[in-house]
Amino acid sequence: MTEKKMDWDARYLTGDTPWEKGASAPALTHLVREGVFPVKGTILVPGCGTGHDVAYLANAGFETHGLDVSQIAIDRAQKTNAVERASYLHGDLFDLELNIKSTYDAIWEHTCYCAIHPSHRSDYIDSVSRLLRPEGIFVGLFFTNTQMPIGEGPPYETSRGDVIEMFSPNFTLIMEQKPQAYYPGREGREWLMIWRRKA
Ligand SMILES: C[S@@+](CC[C@H](N)C(=O)[O-])C[C@H]1O[C@@H](n2cnc3c(N)ncnc32)[C@H](O)[C@@H]1O
Repeated sequence: MTEKKMDWDARYLTGDTPWEKGASAPALTHLVREGVFPVKGTILVPGCGTGHDVAYLANAGFETHGLDVSQIAIDRAQKTNAVERASYLHGDLFDLELNIKSTYDAIWEHTCYCAIHPSHRSDYIDSVSRLLRPEGIFVGLFFTNTQMPIGEGPPYETSRGDVIEMFSPNFTLIMEQKPQAYYPGREGREWLMIWRRKA
């Protein structure tokens, strides 16, 4: 599968952003409202886009840091989703020199993993493992039916089995379920998993 280099700034500038729903992920708000979001402490949101999930988590009381490789997305997040306890950083998740803490208590993953070319999935696992503290929590909403032709993306489809294979060396699965809430049109196309980083 050949990788097509994605210009994320261009996607934001031209408005080619079908993922932009103007609101945080329903699966996330459902977990938090039900009191089953299993997190205490500071949260990292990789590939945060314009920051809806970051602002939601910050408003729910969590210190939350959003990271995105697109400066345009970060500028928009800082403009429209600047709330107390939320902060935004422009940078590449894979950049080992990235000046962010490596002891996050939790990571909220939503449509960043599927934005990464499958050949870089192990780099993604390495990065999130490095940024989480031992026993830190990774809550991921995975896009298991992107309706894209096989091997094309982003979004690049994954499956529950693929995620288990990728994450199991560094993480222990502590919960999985069909999301209880979803954006219109996403029903049955996502899978929610909660992992704990191995000590
Ligand atoms: C499909 S968008 C989802 C944005 C946001 N999570 C949402 O749901 O609105 C994927 C995001 O990941 C960002 N991204 C892609 N590769 C990245 C990387 N290596 N490091 C940080 N962000 C990245 C893109 O700029 C883009 O904002």
